[in-house]
Amino acid sequence: MKAMLELLGERRAAARLGGGQRRIDAQHGRGKLTARERLELLLDHGSFEEFDMFVQHGCTDFGMADVKVPGDGVVTGWGTINGRTVFVFSKDFTVFGGSLSEAHARKITKIQDMALKARAPIIGLFDAGGARIQEGVAALGGYGEVFKRNVIASGVIPQISLIMGPCAGGDVYSPAMTDFIFMVRDTSYMFVTGPDVVKTVTNEIVTAEELGGAKVHTSKSSIADGAYDNDVEALLQMRRLVDFLPASNTEGAPAWESFDDIDRHDASLDTLVPENPNKPYDMKELILKVVDEGDFFEIQEAFARNIITGFGRIEGQSVGFVANQPMVLAGVLDADASRKAARFVRFCDAFNIPIVTFEDVPGFLPGTAQEYGGLIKHGAKLLFAYSEATVPLVTVITRKAFGGAYDVMASKHVGGDINYAWPTAQIAVMGAKGAVEIIFRGMDADGIAAKTKEYEDRFLSPFVAAERGYVDEVIMPHSTRRRIARALAMLREKTVEAPWKKHDNIPL
Ligand code: HXC
Repeated sequence: MKAMLELLGERRAAARLGGGQRRIDAQHGRGKLTARERLELLLDHGSFEEFDMFVQHGCTDFGMADVKVPGDGVVTGWGTINGRTVFVFSKDFTVFGGSLSEAHARKITKIQDMALKARAPIIGLFDAGGARIQEGVAALGGYGEVFKRNVIASGVIPQISLIMGPCAGGDVYSPAMTDFIFMVRDTSYMFVTGPDVVKTVTNEIVTAEELGGAKVHTSKSSIADGAYDNDVEALLQMRRLVDFLPASNTEGAPAWESFDDIDRHDASLDTLVPENPNKPYDMKELILKVVDEGDFFEIQEAFARNIITGFGRIEGQSVGFVANQPMVLAGVLDADASRKAARFVRFCDAFNIPIVTFEDVPGFLPGTAQEYGGLIKHGAKLLFAYSEATVPLVTVITRKAFGGAYDVMASKHVGGDINYAWPTAQIAVMGAKGAVEIIFRGMDADGIAAKTKEYEDRFLSPFVAAERGYVDEVIMPHSTRRRIARALAMLREKTVEAPWKKHDNIPL
């Protein structure tokens, strides 16, 4: 018996060594943790239960029969984050570059199936070079199985991908079908094909960082939702994110104890909006002053900064925030901002997370660059996302709500439940000067000025909308937190009956 126990101990030790000490040292040398070290940080201490530690590939081509590593390049299992179950897989770059074989794929699909059955989130830690080249089509088949499960689980359980090394091929396509992608600065890259292939095919010379580094994907392509300085910070932030999310679409978001008074007034909000309507102010200040304990997890912070998206809590419950940011492009809605917010709204709606919208938007961005770039379709994505959402929708108009953007940003007409306006709100078809120049084309300057003043007095306030019931109430800025908390509490059991359909046809 003792010998058998020793044998198990030895086999476990061998598996834990992955691709060997030399490669582990190289991994550390690059500033990266190993697959197992990462899981230790991600999960509650001692909670990790590993599966399939002894699985090996079955490939015999290219001398592979002689190089088998127990675990085959991915560590899989489940554990807890602050006591809540999550399923995990962590690619081991020290074993064939973390590449995916048929056996490796089966380990991942087993975890995907279990996560779906158990209705618990799944987190993938990626540090891998795509399909195992020696296995060819068997590896491609394996990816297909992973992709299909990504899609089946989409909207049922949260799926999170953390990119922690150079990732190519299937190791970027599978993350692309999950809910969130985060990266680690300077050590992680995402591309369909790496710089060598790019050079061969297109003659383009580009570094991995330029092709698919964290900066590119958080600020240009919008593939990644955020980036962190190192593995430790990234993993700790994933723990923080999971705390905001429900385990599945049949659960509400978790409620954590809050020590922040919901009746907390913030007098500084009464002067947040400047007297001059063209002067910017920081909408993030409003979010931070409204959420519990100022705790806000921003999604896509570096992309389309004219709109802010992220998670906070009110009365301990998760809330998704969408807010125009007057500090960037005056908070205008362009194609990027629309896409960014639409995806976020759809995530919240799929997972029963109420949405609070802070609105100060001068309209959609005009011009050929936007029109040629498909502004109509991208703007429609946001309109569509809000209109189909059935979670509680609470909107606060702080200043401008102009034109189509007024309708789009969770107005009551498209399904917003509660629409509040600050006394500084201006709800109109467009700004006064533009409006008057169209209606009174050809009028002299003095006439235009007089008519502009008349338009401002009549329309640039919350009261025309309030008179029609489009705004439920004009509220004091300092009481915004309490008003939102009460609205969300009132809407907790909100139910919407929608006609049966197979699925909708959002303008992609
Ligand atoms: C087998 C691989 C591998 C792969 C890396 N390795 N990628 N083994 N299959 N796909 C092995 C290397 O042989 C090496 O083994 C070790 O992993 C580390 O690789 P290096 O190249 O030394 O590391 P680095 O310089 O950091 O470069 C990492 C890399 C690069 C950028 C990931 O290895 C690379 O470009 N790999 C190929 C990527 C790729 O084209 N994959 C196929 C994608 S197609 P040793 O023994 O030296 O440690 C695909 C299809 C899916 O995935 C379908 C999508 C729709």
